[in-house]
Amino acid sequence: MSQKPPRKFFEPLAIGAPAPWRETPVALERMIHFFPPHNQKLASRIPEMIGTVDVLLGNLEDAIPSDAKVAAREGFIAVARANDFGRTGLWTRVNCLNSPWFLDDVMEIVGAVGNRLDVIMLPKVEGPWDIHYLDQLLAQLEARHAVTRPIMIHAILETALGVANVEEIAAASPRMHGISLGPADLAASRGMKTTRVGGGHPFYGVLEDGRADAGPRLLFQQDLWHYTVAKMVDACRAQGIKAFYGPFGDFSDDDACEAQFRNAFLLGCVGAWSLHPKQIEIAKRVFSPDVEEVLFARRILEAMPDGSGAVMIDGKMQDDATWKQAKVMVDLAKLVAGRDPDMAARYGL
Ligand code: GLV
Ligand code: MG
Repeated sequence: MSQKPPRKFFEPLAIGAPAPWRETPVALERMIHFFPPHNQKLASRIPEMIGTVDVLLGNLEDAIPSDAKVAAREGFIAVARANDFGRTGLWTRVNCLNSPWFLDDVMEIVGAVGNRLDVIMLPKVEGPWDIHYLDQLLAQLEARHAVTRPIMIHAILETALGVANVEEIAAASPRMHGISLGPADLAASRGMKTTRVGGGHPFYGVLEDGRADAGPRLLFQQDLWHYTVAKMVDACRAQGIKAFYGPFGDFSDDDACEAQFRNAFLLGCVGAWSLHPKQIEIAKRVFSPDVEEVLFARRILEAMPDGSGAVMIDGKMQDDATWKQAKVMVDLAKLVAGRDPDMAARYGL
């Protein structure tokens, strides 16, 4: 038998480890806000950020210099110990599996603050084997340190091999929380000819046909990430886990950041990374559903109380399928409303 029998997925992988999740816990995760835990000044701002962002992530991987890796790990543990995060998620991005830091990152963090940690973000995941390794290791550490809630795994999709295996990665364990697009590493891995962290490229487009008036032909810029985001969303949703757009590196172009986040939201992603405080507001705006859309979706739900049949609203046909779309929108709006009284009033919830 080459596949694990279904029941085995819900047995703990170590004696004494908590039972695996059957459903990922419901949480609003519009932005995963990255902080560098070795930077005392930025780490000292964490208490005031709790409650203002959906997720706080202590970054240990890329962007943390090699000689600060240990300080970042220790800084993260100190921040995790010192604060009560309430409904704000506490995540860390550990170093990648083949790095000299990964093992100590996981062993020390789970040992010290395993009961406070919601999610480990694992970079450069290439196949289900990477998830299986961390899955087993976490179970052993949870058992050793009496961790009572399974720590979830969030994979970054940032190698060509990872994209080829994304469906198996999403299905690899009940610990899987979701997947984020990592456009910078992915561009390098694929040999794309860019030097950006996410976003479009002015040369990637479709040139309109020649015009009879011989006027200048327009190049319509296309989204470099459309294929990967769509593939990732399908892989995630097929397994009931969440898809996220990752980083947007041009802090001087908020409009482009917003457009990239919005494409991801419309395609099915639930959040994005914020690497700069101003991206928190952008993500909040984009990943909270539009008020007019929510009001319209509520009308669909009200017009079809049992979700079946067909009705016309403002000249638009509604049926069981649009009812389901409306429910996606209203369920998300309810999550947002639970965090934000102002939005609750605007949604009428
Ligand atoms: C993120 O880690 C990326 O490589 O884009
Ligand atoms: Mg990366």
